[in-house]
Amino acid sequence: MKTSRSSIAIFILSGLVALVNTHVKAQTKWVSPASANSVTNPTENNEATLKSAKTLYVSMCAPCHGEKGKGDGPAAVALNPKPADHTSKEIQNESDGSLYWKLTNGRGAMQSYKTQLTDKQRWGLISYIRTLKKK
Ligand code: HEC
Repeated sequence: MKTSRSSIAIFILSGLVALVNTHVKAQTKWVSPASANSVTNPTENNEATLKSAKTLYVSMCAPCHGEKGKGDGPAAVALNPKPADHTSKEIQNESDGSLYWKLTNGRGAMQSYKTQLTDKQRWGLISYIRTLKKK
């Protein structure tokens, strides 16, 4: 009798620990490694780069990040954590290298675009994100 009661207690306890764990994980701020900050954008920031990046953004990123980058795309409703608001001060204050690192490596619902997009396309998207800055 005693054993079964304590195993039930352990069962409940481990369930609680798992619950708290997932909760904490969903809340943690996504931080890229410090080394990412020193990587600079090698892409020439011209009209053609921004134009093709916009096309990519609207088709591949907008479903979650929203057409204007506000993090309010149709798929965002179901996501936790929410897609980043690319117009926000927080994102705009982040270095190009850090944003590039996140786009390349991904986390959770934000998949890795390392193989899906070329280096050039990814850097173009970072340049495009800069144009979304809240005015
Ligand atoms: C399926 C939904 C989805 C799509 C599609 C998507 N993202 Fe994301 N993105 C997210 C979510 C969710 C986060 C926040 C992830 C987190 O904090 O764990 C995020 C975070 C980011 C971040 C990091 C912001 C920060 O500094 O914390 C960048 C940069 C980014 N996305 C760029 C893009 C670009 C560019 C595309 C298109 C190529 C894209 N994302 C497509 C869901 C998506």
